[in-house]
Amino acid sequence: MAKSQTATEKDVTRDRLAELLNEDLSREYQAIISYVVYSQVLTGAAYMDIADQLELHAKQELDHALIISRQIDYLGKMPTVTPRPVRTSKDAKEMLRFDLENENETIRNYRDRIRQCEALGEFALAEQIRKILIQEQDHQIDLATALGVEVPDVSKPEGGGSR
Ligand SMILES: [Fe+2]
Ligand SMILES: [Fe+2]
Repeated sequence: MAKSQTATEKDVTRDRLAELLNEDLSREYQAIISYVVYSQVLTGAAYMDIADQLELHAKQELDHALIISRQIDYLGKMPTVTPRPVRTSKDAKEMLRFDLENENETIRNYRDRIRQCEALGEFALAEQIRKILIQEQDHQIDLATALGVEVPDVSKPEGGGSR
């Protein structure tokens, strides 16, 4: 699912920015759904803490979706209603790994989005996304910690994370 955009795409029009924000919104919907489900089905003493954290993530992802759809509306476009597909697994570790991979992709995209917003002079929009990005990086840290892995470096243009 990686290839929806070129990570180096820097100069975008406002229309293109709205399209990209709609991809972000689809990812936020995906995150809401997966955190709603995973937080409830993760069981066992080892996963109690992370299950609570995932419940908090679910609520934060909803906040993100609201902020992003407001920005799309501000750009004169219609917010999408379609989530990215949600992967499921019966294996707790695998669920957490899916979440971590999604957060990596989200972070990579929001970093691009901030640069694109700034290139367009949309500084307030960039600021909104920065606030979201802070929480996404917290999610990434929570998941990496629960999995006992290092926080992936997603600063490389493509595939810098897992996989
Ligand atoms: Fe989010
Ligand atoms: Fe997140």
